[in-house]
Order: sequence, then C-alpha cells, then structure tokens
Amino acid sequence: MTRLLAKLHFLLTIPASIFLILQSTKIHPSYRMTLGRKLWLGLRMFFNTRRIPTGTTFRTHLAIALKILETPPTVPGVVVECGSWKGGSSTNLSLVCRITGRTLVVCDSFRGLPPAVPGDREARHYSEGDYVGTLGEVTSNIRRHGAIECCEFVEGWFEETLPKQQGPVLVAFVDVDLEASLHTCVRYLWPRLVPEGYLFIDESVGTDYCALFYSETWWRRYFNTTPPGLIGAGTGLPLGDFYIGPWSERDHHPGQRASSGAYTGKSLSGHWTYYPEE
Ligand SMILES: C[S@@+](CC[C@H](N)C(=O)[O-])C[C@H]1O[C@@H](n2cnc3c(N)ncnc32)[C@H](O)[C@@H]1O
Repeated sequence: MTRLLAKLHFLLTIPASIFLILQSTKIHPSYRMTLGRKLWLGLRMFFNTRRIPTGTTFRTHLAIALKILETPPTVPGVVVECGSWKGGSSTNLSLVCRITGRTLVVCDSFRGLPPAVPGDREARHYSEGDYVGTLGEVTSNIRRHGAIECCEFVEGWFEETLPKQQGPVLVAFVDVDLEASLHTCVRYLWPRLVPEGYLFIDESVGTDYCALFYSETWWRRYFNTTPPGLIGAGTGLPLGDFYIGPWSERDHHPGQRASSGAYTGKSLSGHWTYYPEE
C-alpha cells in the first residue's frame, strides 16, 4: 500500500515536477525554452528512464539540465558525464546538449566498476564489473533516444583517461559509486570547471561520501583551497521525494527514498570560519 501510494505520487506529479524544476527566470532566451519545449524535454527524459535501465531519476537529469540551460552560450565548456552504465543519463544529457549547442563527453570503462582498492569504504557494497554497459549498448541507446551527434566517448579507467583530458568543463555529472572513483573524478575535473561551472554527484545520502566536499584536508592537499560544500548532502536535492533517513534505516521507511543527487559549484563555499577562542 505504501509503495503503491509512493508510485502514484511519483506518476501524478510528473508534469508539476517538470514545470517546477525548469521554472527559472535565468534560462537563457537563446535556447527558446517555451513552456511546450520544457514539457517536451521533461517528458522525453521521463520516458527515456523507462526505456533504458537508469540509475538516476529524470528529475535529477532535469536539475542538471537547468544549470546548463541557465548558462549563456558565451560561457565555454563541455558537459562531462563520468559513469554512464547503459546510457540512460547520457541520453538525457545529450538532449540538453543539443538544445544548448554543447558537447557531452561520456567517460566510462564500459566494463563496469573496477576492483576495490584498500581504504575505499563504499567498495564493500559492490563487486567488480557491477553496472556494466558496453560502448555498443550506450551508443545504441543514445542513437535511438537522444542526440548522438553531440556526444564524444572516452573509454577506460578514469585514473588513466581523465588526466589526459583538457579543456573547459561547464557541468560534470559524476555518478561513479566508489570513493576511489569519486576522488579521481573530482581531482581531475575540478581544475577544468569554469567559474560558472557545477559538479553533480549521485550518491548523496552517504554522509561519509559527501564529506569529500567539506574536507578541509582534501581541498588543501590537492588544490590548496577551502572546500566548496555540497547542496543536497545527506538527502539529495529536494525534487519531490520524501526522505528522513538515515540510509541505514531505509527499510523502516518504505515510502521514502532519496534519489536526486547533490551538487557543488566552482563558486560555492562550504567552509566554517568562526572559532571564537582564537
Ligand atoms: C551507477 S553507474 C552509472 C549510472 C548512470 N549514470 C545512470 O544514471 O544510469 C556507475 C558507472 O561508473 C563506472 N565507473 C565507476 N568507476 C569507474 C572507473 N574508475 N573508471 C571507469 N568507469 C568507472 C562504471 O563502469 C558504471 O558504468
């Protein structure tokens, strides 16, 4: 009964979600996002997540789309997706890239998750090869349901491919499960992020995972700066789901789920400075 009610709520609120998430006075006029075009984009994204096995919701994709649509075309930068699985989120991001004239760079091993490395606490939840989507599967899904002409594909382990890539990044979507993979992606993508840029993650309920974005040690060590913080840390972005948490108690709350991701921005700050005794 609870699950049915949650499903009904999800389905009945689809049009309102599209309208409310994309309701912004900042969307750049050159993208001509009329109400009809917003609805069309949102519905395509929703149906794509039904047609392609996808680890993230269309509402998360819409939140990422909003940041891209709000950025004037004069701001440089590609959209990078690290972690594509079967290409569900890539397909939806490719649609926004077509509207905005940007390139989507899809990075993945196309062999699933790498083996666990020592010290990675998230690795205990996964096995090597989980979430495999081959390059053929991903390109075929994007070709059928998205905008393949806007995409470039980078195959290989992030540790090997990301250090070799260059050029400005407007938005990065890092959906990579493991702490080691998150570390590598943020380390190599952050310097490329333009001042107006954003970095989204999917694993927003793990407070240890999210802690990277508040770790003064990490940001000092790799970028000699203070941490940027993370909007949605611990619960995900408030995009219509109910979630009280913590994650360890999820089985007690069958009608709740947090699945909307979180984000930070190059210009944001998550740094405490008030130490009255100093
Ligand atoms: C959860 S899936 C991505 C789901 C997808 N974004 C979606 O919404 O459907 C995680 C992906 O990250 C990739 N991945 C994780 N760590 C990686 C690494 N170190 N190098 C390359 N690919 C990696 C896996 O191959 C997998 O496709």
